[in-house]
Amino acid sequence: MTDNVTACKVAKPDIATRLRRETRDAHCQIEAVMSDLLFATPLDLQAYQHMLKLHRSYYELVEAKLGQFHTTAAMMRERCKLSWLDSDIRYLKKDCGQSVSDHGSYASEALELPENEAQAWGFLYVFEGATLGGGHILDRLRHQPHFKGRSGLRFFHSYGPKTPAMWREFQLSLQQFVAANPGSEKQIINGANLSFSNMYALMKGVRVD
Ligand code: HEM
Repeated sequence: MTDNVTACKVAKPDIATRLRRETRDAHCQIEAVMSDLLFATPLDLQAYQHMLKLHRSYYELVEAKLGQFHTTAAMMRERCKLSWLDSDIRYLKKDCGQSVSDHGSYASEALELPENEAQAWGFLYVFEGATLGGGHILDRLRHQPHFKGRSGLRFFHSYGPKTPAMWREFQLSLQQFVAANPGSEKQIINGANLSFSNMYALMKGVRVD
């Protein structure tokens, strides 16, 4: 009995708990900078489009990298988000007549991309976790006059009603990766923090004249 109690007290937190805990500050930072842009009244449509374009460049680089590691490549078969970003960018250009120059974009060579499979899981965690916040963002933006239905908001709609199930499946696969790769937690958390800091730099690059 005593042994069980002791074991419980010293049980190591699982990867999901560690990721949430050890990236909390980074999440707060990105949430603050995104909220400033997305929840400004009225919404600056040009800044919104600029944000989508920067996201697109970044997601393209990272998704290509995730495709290079066996286990993350398998996950990406149904988790690619580029077409969502493309559809929003197209809508803004066509229906809202928005067009922004590429000024203020980031230098891709300054980005740190995953160097190994464990780090890649950390990057994937950030992309998948962002779909959870997406629902909250969608609720705030869907009443804006520029958007009808899902038009212009496909990226934040993400997996829609399937989002909680996709998240659970992601967490399960992540646990399986850790079980098969003991000691990989540090690299996974490091990858997640790298991705958050890339995205923070990216969002800081959203400037509108
Ligand atoms: C205005 C912007 C954002 C808001 C309001 C927001 C809000 C949230 C909320 C409410 C959750 C928890 C959802 C739940 O447990 O059901 C969450 C989780 C998460 N978000 Fe965000 N988010 C924002 C932006 C972002 C961005 C830009 C990223 C990534 C670049 C991100 C990454 C994550 C991650 C990784 C989680 C999972 C945390 C966990 O391990 O449980 N979020 N977000």
